[in-house]
Amino acid sequence: MEKENNINFTNAITLVHSIIKQKKNGKINQIFIDGTCGNGHDTIFLTSLGYVYSFDIQYKAIEIAKGYNLKNVSYINDCHSKIGEYIKENIDGAIFNLGYLPGGDKQITTKKETTLLAIMTVLELLKSDGVLCIIVYPGHKDGKDEESSLLNYLSELNQKEFNVMVIDFLNRINNSPYPIIIERIRRENE
Ligand SMILES: C[S@@+](CC[C@H](N)C(=O)[O-])C[C@H]1O[C@@H](n2cnc3c(N)ncnc32)[C@H](O)[C@@H]1O
Repeated sequence: MEKENNINFTNAITLVHSIIKQKKNGKINQIFIDGTCGNGHDTIFLTSLGYVYSFDIQYKAIEIAKGYNLKNVSYINDCHSKIGEYIKENIDGAIFNLGYLPGGDKQITTKKETTLLAIMTVLELLKSDGVLCIIVYPGHKDGKDEESSLLNYLSELNQKEFNVMVIDFLNRINNSPYPIIIERIRRENE
C-alpha cells in the first residue's frame, strides 16, 4: 500500500495511483476499469476507491489477482478490445498498464490494434472529470509501435473535450515506462 499523500516521480505506476486518488474528491460509488489486470496491483489499488472491472486476456493473471480475495471486483478473462460488450455504464476512471505479465510469457503482450480499440471505448465511457491513465512501455518492439499509434490518436482528441498529458522522463537512458493521462473535461449531455 502506498503512503497517504505521498506523491513521488520515481515510477509511472505510483504517480498514476496518486493522480487517480486525488480525483476522488468526495465522489461516491465510483466505477473503474483495469484494462490489464496482470498481477493485480492496479486492481488492488482501484478497489480501495470503488468498484472495478478488471480485464486480462490470460487466465493465469486473473488467477493471481483472485488470490487476493478482493471485494468490489469483477474479473473478465477476455481481450480489453471487447470492453463495450461487458460494460454499459459510465466510469470514473481506468488504468491501462500496458506490456506483458512480469515473469510471464513476453509474447502475450498488449498490441497496438486492440489497445487502440479498447482506449476508444474507454474514452466513450468516461464521465466528466474522469481520468484514464495509460502506462506505455517503449522499451520493446510491440511497445514502441503501440506508443506511436497511441500518441497519434490521442494528439487528435478534441481539446474542448479532453486534456491529454504525457509525463515522460527526460533523463533516463533505458526507455522507462511513462504515463499518458487523459482527463475528460465534459460530456455532451452533462
Ligand atoms: C504489465 S501487465 C499489467 C500489470 C498489472 N496492471 C498489475 O498491476 O500487476 C500487462 C497485462 O496485460 C495483459 N494483456 C495483454 N494483452 C491484453 C489484451 N488484449 N486484453 C487484456 N489484457 C491483455 C497481459 O496478459 C498482462 O497480464
